[in-house]
Amino acid sequence: NPPAIRLGINVDHVATLRNARGGDRPDPVRAALAAIAAGADGITAHLREDRRHIRDADMARLKAEISKPLNFEMAATAEMQKIALATKPHAVCLVPERREELTTEGGLDVVGQHNALAPFIAALNDAGIRVSLFISADERQIETVAKLRAPVIEIHTGAWCDAVVDGHKDKAEAEWRRIVKGAAFAKSAGLEVHAGHGLDYATAETIAALPEIVELNIGYFMIGEALFVGIPETVRAMRAAMDRGRATLRARTA
Ligand code: PXP
Repeated sequence: NPPAIRLGINVDHVATLRNARGGDRPDPVRAALAAIAAGADGITAHLREDRRHIRDADMARLKAEISKPLNFEMAATAEMQKIALATKPHAVCLVPERREELTTEGGLDVVGQHNALAPFIAALNDAGIRVSLFISADERQIETVAKLRAPVIEIHTGAWCDAVVDGHKDKAEAEWRRIVKGAAFAKSAGLEVHAGHGLDYATAETIAALPEIVELNIGYFMIGEALFVGIPETVRAMRAAMDRGRATLRARTA
């Protein structure tokens, strides 16, 4: 039997909606609690340097109020490290950040930033926080993560998902092959493999059929769907899509 696959819900864009009017509603913590009640295995939130969606107080409340693991997404800056060490989330996912970007556009360059990341990751490891690095499925990046003693990678699925949604078949196929190869390579290097960015029901089902992937982190699509059918139904439908992916995998390996 393949290992179970966890569903982490990213609540950033509940905060985006809240911030549009500057008040307290809708509350991302309420969304997190609803997602957990419907079966989510964890909650992800990204405290960006510009605080465009999640704010410091949201992160503190998520940590205090949710009963499932909190995955704290952040840039590798001294300010964020201090907040993470004070918050003590289950996990930290290090992502690249550029102020002018609409979303996290690519993976972290762990090869180029190796020397700065080594002490940064060591401090989080020492605090008992599980460190994950958000990277593209590139062998050199993966090898470097293993050397840096971070236990987890999250594969950036954005380019693949965009190509699928836009109907660019060749590009989608090439990106998919890269993900398949990268996931297997990472597992063989002793890393735990997660994936996220741009996933919807169809791409989540496809990627859940990869045995190495044990966690998906999904936000934007789910919050958008929840506007129409609610958070509980969206979580259940995503879980069902992932279960179909795992069933495909079991049928293939039986
Ligand atoms: N994983 C990471 C590391 C991310 O940066 C994001 C986007 O904030 C996600 C997952 C979720 O991506 P999406 O909102 O496109 O589902």
